[in-house]
Amino acid sequence: MNRHMLILLAVTWALFAASVTGYLVRTEESDPPARVFLENTGGRVVFAHAGHVADYGLECVECHHDDTGAEQPVPCGVCHPKAFDDSFRGGHFAAFSDRSHCLRCHASDPDVETPAERPDPEWIPVRTDAFHEQCLGCHESMGGPVGEDACDQCHAGM
Ligand code: HEC
Ligand code: HEC
Ligand code: HEC
Ligand code: HEC
Ligand code: HEC
Repeated sequence: MNRHMLILLAVTWALFAASVTGYLVRTEESDPPARVFLENTGGRVVFAHAGHVADYGLECVECHHDDTGAEQPVPCGVCHPKAFDDSFRGGHFAAFSDRSHCLRCHASDPDVETPAERPDPEWIPVRTDAFHEQCLGCHESMGGPVGEDACDQCHAGM
């Protein structure tokens, strides 16, 4: 093997290693993830996050409710739990770093409002409904897997 071949090989390996590292490791916690793994009883969903932004030209706000380009958004499941049961009611305050998030659900300062003013979970969708509504709603208008036969395009093993 000549010298040029060796250099070429070294460069190829360096690029390969860098791309694998980039695929697996998030440089900063606040970086948008390349892909998101969503565990659930229907079978794991591998969501191509970066692909949806870069390849399909979507804006952050189309999924994140607000422009989260600069800030780390709160994971969807913090506001859309599996159920608005006692464990959500008792512990959810600890999940929000920013008081402005409280006002997304509470009409006023949640520490001074009366129980009667507390949000009605009926208008906040639970996790599965929120995801299905958002993913499938957009696919209906822009393309992407949709319909009764499409389950296994998102869920591994369905
Ligand atoms: C097609 C919908 C969609 C678009 C467009 C989108 N995101 Fe996301 N994003 C998601 C979903 C779904 C998650 C996973 C949330 C979860 O795990 O609960 C996520 C997760 C994230 C997370 C990690 C939050 C966490 O769970 O810790 C960050 C950061 C993020 N997105 C930033 C962005 C930014 C910045 C943009 C615009 C450049 C963007 N996203 C565009 C759907 C989207
Ligand atoms: C800070 C809390 C909060 C976070 C984080 C959040 N949501 Fe929501 N979401 C709400 C509330 C409150 C509603 C009730 C209706 C409204 O105010 O828009 C809602 C409504 C929805 C709806 C139904 C109404 C609509 O806009 O179509 C969908 C779908 C939805 N959320 C998906 C998501 C997804 C997916 C994520 C993560 C990318 C997410 N939400 C993150 C609070 C949140
Ligand atoms: C995703 C929507 C949502 C967000 C965001 C949210 N809450 Fe709540 N909160 C609720 C719901 C739903 C209840 C239960 C209402 C009920 O049934 O009494 C509740 C109840 C409460 C209660 C009463 C608890 C009890 O034991 O009766 C307090 C206090 C409270 N929230 C404070 C906060 C604070 C502080 C924040 C921000 C750090 C916050 N909430 C963010 C939805 C939310
Ligand atoms: C705002 C619009 C939008 C939202 C929201 C959205 N998608 Fe998509 N999705 C698209 C578009 C556009 C395509 C590409 C369709 C094509 O080219 O045929 C796509 C394609 C896909 C594909 C097939 C190709 C690929 O990239 O893997 C999967 C799987 C997928 N989306 C999963 C999801 C999941 C899971 C969610 C919810 C977490 C979601 N999408 C939310 C617009 C969206
Ligand atoms: C566009 C992608 C997509 C398609 C198509 C899709 N789902 Fe889902 N599904 C999701 C996402 C995303 C979640 C939320 C994962 C999570 O909770 O983290 C989910 C959650 C679920 C759950 C979990 C419920 C739980 O509480 O754990 C079930 C069951 C499910 N889907 C069934 C189906 C069935 C049946 C179909 C076909 C009729 C289908 N899904 C089609 C993306 C999809």
